[in-house]
Amino acid sequence: MIFSDVVIIGAGAAGLMAAATAGYRGRSVTVVDMGKKPGRKILISGGGRCNFTNENAGPENYLCQNPHFTKSALSRYSAQDFIELVDRHGLNYHHKTLGQLFCDDSAQDIVDILLTECEWAGVNIAMRSEVIAISKNETGYIVQTSGESYQCESLVVASGGLTMPKLGASPMGYKIAEKFGLSVLPTTAALVPFTLHEHDKQKFDGLSGISIFTEIFSEDGTTFKENILFTHRGLSGPAVLQISSFWQAGQAVTINLLPESSIDSLITEWRETSPQKSLKNLLSTVLPKRFIEALVKQKDISDKAINQISNDEITYLGQYLHNWQIKPNGTEGYRTAEVTLGGVNTDELSSKTFEAKKSKGLFFIGEVIDVTGWLGGYNFQFAWSSGAACGQAC
Ligand code: FDA
Repeated sequence: MIFSDVVIIGAGAAGLMAAATAGYRGRSVTVVDMGKKPGRKILISGGGRCNFTNENAGPENYLCQNPHFTKSALSRYSAQDFIELVDRHGLNYHHKTLGQLFCDDSAQDIVDILLTECEWAGVNIAMRSEVIAISKNETGYIVQTSGESYQCESLVVASGGLTMPKLGASPMGYKIAEKFGLSVLPTTAALVPFTLHEHDKQKFDGLSGISIFTEIFSEDGTTFKENILFTHRGLSGPAVLQISSFWQAGQAVTINLLPESSIDSLITEWRETSPQKSLKNLLSTVLPKRFIEALVKQKDISDKAINQISNDEITYLGQYLHNWQIKPNGTEGYRTAEVTLGGVNTDELSSKTFEAKKSKGLFFIGEVIDVTGWLGGYNFQFAWSSGAACGQAC
């Protein structure tokens, strides 16, 4: 049996941040993880460049049953705090759109920063150590892994959600929560591409790779202005990933394909400037040609000279292009999702320390809990913020 003040399950973003923070307080800390390498999701994130935070991260960017839950942690360890950390380590990074920060070189740089911090803080990391069982005794918790048994005063569960089973996702965190009497909210894949019904798939066959700037709406009125992307399997792109977190099976999504202009004014202009030109050719100047051709082929749009189009047809066209409705068949699920919606109920946890109200010394942080960020660096920011808050208390 190995004794450690703190044992952390999961060498991901949240676990490594909590480990370094607790280690600097003088706590002996052991991180156990069943993978070969720490920070595996960090390494594949942001296309290998890790969108490691978002400068604008605030509670409004997270889905959680309790909308106030993230306030304390995000304000005590903000995006600015993480930026200061990476600046101290000399990381080269750049701003993309909408407050998103990415590494210039590689996501490995973020893992290296976290591992350096852990080393400086004296943290012990045991990889290839799968947690098999947890029990409680008078002095704290016993963690049984595939290799060793650990006795600890504080047990931090940072085991992530269910996305990407290939990268070691496991329901272990939810099982530990339930074992100690904490409720777990139902989970689903989020930030995930949509699959389409067969008839829509056939309609859009051949459009794979086409990207369109849109405004997308879910039935609950949530909206994002970003790109959609046609894929071989259905619809993806940032707008679709964002709205997937707000979509429920059977619902439709509405897409404004021309969010920055109005069909009425475009047609008025074209009637004056190019009355003989075909609608198909003119629409192809504001939307991808292949997409317009597909709509004409399916007879969703008629191909007439612009001066032959009736007012009723303009109304229909406006309705069609500004309120394009798609009813997804489903999502690609945990296999390709970026995050898991739902998880350990935040009502069970302190929003300051992330300690379970019902079980002293037991903490849950990161994706395992019912906090899901938007696309754009928000999920890593919550991992850093919850890890830092917990590391101060565990
Ligand atoms: P995380 O899943 O990172 O770590 C959990 C660890 O626990 C894993 O290492 C796992 O092996 C270990 N574990 C689980 N069960 C165990 C057991 N029984 N025994 C031992 N160990 C166990 N977010 C963002 O903000 N910006 C981005 O650019 C991206 N990009 C992105 C791309 C892709 C493809 C994905 C899948 C996800 C993203 N994300 C993202 C989301 C982000 O990766 C995610 O929110 C964080 O990694 C969550 O960090 P955690 O530390 O909570 O869990």
